[in-house]
Amino acid sequence: MLKKMPTTELKVGMFVADVGRKWFNHPWSSKSRLLSDPAEIKELIDYGIDEVYIDTERSKLPGPAGGRKPFVPVAGTSAPLRKAAVQTAPPPAAAAPDPVSMLEAELPKAAKAYGKALDTSKALIAACYMNKRIEVSEVQENVDELVESVTRNQDALSALIKLRRFDDYTYTHCLNVSVLSISTGKALGLSQEDLRILGMGTMFHDLGKTRVPAYILNQPGKLTDEEFSVMRNHAALSEEIIREQKLDVDEQVVQVARFHHERMDGSGYPDHLKGEQIPRLATICGLSDVYDALTSDRVYHKGMLPHDALKFIYGLRGTHFEPTWVDRFVQSVGIYPPGSVVELNSGHIAVVIEVIHTSLLNPVIKIVADPKGRIMGKPRLVHLASQTEGNALSINKVIPPSEAGFDPSHYFNLTEAGKP
Ligand SMILES: [Fe+2]
Ligand SMILES: [Fe+2]
Repeated sequence: MLKKMPTTELKVGMFVADVGRKWFNHPWSSKSRLLSDPAEIKELIDYGIDEVYIDTERSKLPGPAGGRKPFVPVAGTSAPLRKAAVQTAPPPAAAAPDPVSMLEAELPKAAKAYGKALDTSKALIAACYMNKRIEVSEVQENVDELVESVTRNQDALSALIKLRRFDDYTYTHCLNVSVLSISTGKALGLSQEDLRILGMGTMFHDLGKTRVPAYILNQPGKLTDEEFSVMRNHAALSEEIIREQKLDVDEQVVQVARFHHERMDGSGYPDHLKGEQIPRLATICGLSDVYDALTSDRVYHKGMLPHDALKFIYGLRGTHFEPTWVDRFVQSVGIYPPGSVVELNSGHIAVVIEVIHTSLLNPVIKIVADPKGRIMGKPRLVHLASQTEGNALSINKVIPPSEAGFDPSHYFNLTEAGKP
């Protein structure tokens, strides 16, 4: 049963069925969730959401009858209760390391792993074009380094993808899809072994394109039906390459390659699989694949801003992709990924440094220019999620990097190897 309830009366264990706001107008990656942490209630209150809809059937409140006890709202809720809800948030662990410093510490290592994997990606594609043997152990070694980096810090490699948009799409695409997929897989709680398999599958996912004629591959205009079916065959050709070479890889690697264009409603290809028929690792690859294709600059079009690409992917929720998986993907990538340039409500210009995965609209930023666009000598680090009420800064809009007038990568701790 759905029940309207003031946010100040929410409790851990209640199931929020609808926050009553559209996407981007609430702090969560989806409109519903089972409350498991008082911090989630604080997020809603801080966001100015006064009421939500609760599903009493799906709530799991502690009680003798297995959590199905009906809950009674506290009468006369006002400021004191709001304060109480805020105060129930557990204090941060004293020894917890600063997330920004963890990201900055990981960036040079991530840049090294990315550089090595990019060389391997180029060698992999060259081997396919020249019909040479693929060195699986070399690819696996690089993938393992990517998995290790994501395990140490989920965001460092993802930040690099955004900051290093200068290499040819042909070579970066498989690697970027691999990084995004490993990062999403980590957020979904996949085991290390699954992450290694996912990393390999994604590195191989588009190898079949080396067998698609260049005039079709690089066609800026609309493809004919015949050309389109040749193009669509690349997923099956990726499998063919792995089988032909008898590569010593897990069968799930082959599945990622063959099924990464399958879609939940059966509209994908090559086998028109539906729903749970699609292997989960292939679904993760499919989400990352769409995102990287939309956000990358190509010869014939400029890439979308991450923010807009995620809106597009959100529109595929329930048709092409399982809603929960889209939510997790958005949560993993972040609405404003590191390296995004944003304008604040104060008019200042800032660079996003770190995603806060539990508060996607409130990342850690560095304010780098005043409202007149003058670059400040000393950028100011602000944790948007930890501001006190009253004079809170917030993000107004995203600015395309080409219009920013400065290089966002300048504000990250990158070694020479990681710099564009
Ligand atoms: Fe593909
Ligand atoms: Fe792809």
